[in-house]
Amino acid sequence: MEYGFEKFNFKDLNALREKLNVMGLDLPVSKDVSVLAQPVGLGARTLKNALCVHPMEGCDSMDDGSPSEMVYRRYERFAQGGSALLWVEACAVCSEGRANPRQLSIHEGNKDKFKTLVSFIREKAAGKIYLVLQLTHSGRYSKPYAGAPAIIACENRYLDPFLPPEVHSITDEELGCLEDKFADAARFADYAGFDAVDIKCCHRYLSNELLSAYRRPGSYGGTFKNRTRFLFNIVEKVLKTTSIDVAVRLNAYDEIPYPYGFGVNRSQYRKPDLTEIKLIVRRLYELGVRLVNITSGNPYYNPHVNRPYDTGTYTPPDHPLENVYKLLDASRQVKRAVPDMTVIAAGLTWLRDLGANVAAGCIGEKWFDLAGFGRQAFAYPDFANDILAKGELMRSKCCITCSKCTTIMRDGGAAGCVIRDPKVYLPIYQVGRQDKQDIDGSRIAEHI
Ligand SMILES: Cc1cc2nc3c(=O)[nH]c(=O)nc-3n(C[C@H](O)[C@H](O)[C@H](O)COP(=O)(O)O)c2cc1C
Repeated sequence: MEYGFEKFNFKDLNALREKLNVMGLDLPVSKDVSVLAQPVGLGARTLKNALCVHPMEGCDSMDDGSPSEMVYRRYERFAQGGSALLWVEACAVCSEGRANPRQLSIHEGNKDKFKTLVSFIREKAAGKIYLVLQLTHSGRYSKPYAGAPAIIACENRYLDPFLPPEVHSITDEELGCLEDKFADAARFADYAGFDAVDIKCCHRYLSNELLSAYRRPGSYGGTFKNRTRFLFNIVEKVLKTTSIDVAVRLNAYDEIPYPYGFGVNRSQYRKPDLTEIKLIVRRLYELGVRLVNITSGNPYYNPHVNRPYDTGTYTPPDHPLENVYKLLDASRQVKRAVPDMTVIAAGLTWLRDLGANVAAGCIGEKWFDLAGFGRQAFAYPDFANDILAKGELMRSKCCITCSKCTTIMRDGGAAGCVIRDPKVYLPIYQVGRQDKQDIDGSRIAEHI
């Protein structure tokens, strides 16, 4: 049975339990969240708790990709927030692969600036913190300057209508060179003192697009072996040439019809088919990867899949709880298939304060190992401290899933929480909306 869209309206945990029951979703929930304070094994290491801040782009770096004051402000807040693991946002491995002119980018010329940032984060963190840097090439979503060509790995009848006029189809030779650029970036991250690099493979950026390149000719398309070649080659190169840990943020499914989507049932594209993602995670484990972060969807095409929301650019076709469930269930399936892999789940923010109870329920039942929070961290950077010290989240401090952080990004501004951090982000939001006729300062003020 399908359940239509509804905004979040659960008074308390019992109301959520009731709805899950009605919808037939076997999502574990627990009033006691103490499991989130327990240490978690990661290969030979131990993380101090089961909480993670997901990568969240601020689009506010310096022109050369170095961290700006805004970047420092964001990571100071996250570092002091109490999570064991901080997954630092998308950072381009080359200038042409930046998603916007203010995306972080690491290179020989600024590796010392990243080193200073890492020392700063460690100094500010309340105790030990595991730092992952997400390395990326934005592929079809590359936009390092106005009018830059999109870089595609394969044609896609659903996504191509949104491409800019200039498009470049990346060649096998260029992909081979890019593998080395990822390895170089990993070396700089190692030098800077990160614990791990993430070879980003999600949300339809370049390496993720290759996973569904069923119709691409040559060495990077067609068979499973070819479609995963780019990802596995990079992982192998990084492990061979550095001593840094390697992690991967992976799309389990994207809800784009086959043969253009990945991880989807071939006749019902909104149903995940997790066969290939399990094979990928197993192979990553064999190669030496010990940490994966499971996500889904495409933030440009179907944002409700990856970021269940109350307000967005369209009303989603289904109840946000279904998307929350699918996201968390994908992590469960991956964990079951490769139990020794440390798995981080996404999709908890829409649940507001009850996200902590669902995270605790799922971790208690071994669905996954760490609970990651994205938008919640923008709104409520010390969410982990409250979970650990008070045993709960304060609803009045939670993200309201209004999508304004995403709107700012699409308008070309620096992303953050307009509602809970209005001094910094409300003016940025308003400037971006100036010619778009939907500034709604009075309604925003109701939440502040
Ligand atoms: C403004 C914004 C920026 C984001 N930047 C990144 C990013 O750099 N890398 C990434 O993998 N995901 C990024 N995401 C996705 C989040 O990491 C996360 O997967 C998503 O928000 C769902 O988790 P949540 O429900 O806890 O917010 C971003 C999301 C938003 C809203």
